[in-house]
Amino acid sequence: MMKTALKLPRSVQLDAGRGGLPRLEIASPLARAQVYLHGAQITQFAPTGGGAILFESERARFEPGKAIRGGAPVIFPWFGPHPEGEDKPAHGFARTREWTLESATEEDDGTVVLVLRLEPDEEAVALWPEGGRAWTLRHRLTLGTALTMELEIENGGPAPFRCEEALHTYFRVGDIREVALHGLEETEYLTVIEDQPRKREGSGPIRFTGETDRIYVNTEANLSILDPVLHRRIEIEKSGSRATVVWNPWIAKSQRLTDFVPDEWIGMLCVETGNLRENALVIPPGERHVTRTVLREEV
Ligand code: BG6
Repeated sequence: MMKTALKLPRSVQLDAGRGGLPRLEIASPLARAQVYLHGAQITQFAPTGGGAILFESERARFEPGKAIRGGAPVIFPWFGPHPEGEDKPAHGFARTREWTLESATEEDDGTVVLVLRLEPDEEAVALWPEGGRAWTLRHRLTLGTALTMELEIENGGPAPFRCEEALHTYFRVGDIREVALHGLEETEYLTVIEDQPRKREGSGPIRFTGETDRIYVNTEANLSILDPVLHRRIEIEKSGSRATVVWNPWIAKSQRLTDFVPDEWIGMLCVETGNLRENALVIPPGERHVTRTVLREEV
């Protein structure tokens, strides 16, 4: 067992997880979950009596400096490739750094609340000088029968900064070709793979028939994933988020991902809650922003 200066509540243990990385194991009356300090990343969550909500690749890498393929990576302070090129890591650096466990508590009903914190070190400042040296990220995970994730970005410096962020959640689905995603009807989106820069979603739910990579903008709508194969619906509530990203790599891109089993695209769907592109955040000095999402399985 690994050691922490904090007294952990009954339902939480710190151990060496895959690749030897520090991992919090939660086994409460309400849920089971795994959270890595690497990236503050929850990789597994299942409410008691329910199914696994999150997808985790069988080939996910658990190595310092690498992103874990699955669960809910924290994307910050930029989304996607950096405009200056590949010297800067795709989707920022928050998902590949080790965070500090700030607190771990358990309520009387068994709800576990974990708070993980990331502050800038020299490497982060070099990668993102615009952010200065005085920002703090806090990722608060509330694990009850639902999973609540709250990413707080605080600007403790003297100047405003612009940043992008997302809770890049990988959902487990029975078969992506049977899934319907509700909540983005009539919403404008930026296409990442097609030529046209901007499109508008139709009036029905989204169905998946090929590689999908879209940034829906100016939307605060809640979402739901209807999954007839797993006989369930996943409700996604969000607040403090004006963008939603929808991603499935389908066949060809899956084969290019080295940390993915080629047919795993069938069993996953990313629905990401955040603020990016025209909905990027500008955080004034002394202020903070919270992006919150609540995930709940309904059968
Ligand atoms: C999605 C992006 O959010 O993340 C995709 O929209 C990208 O373009 C995907 O391929 C996975 O990114 P990565 O860096 O984890 O391979």
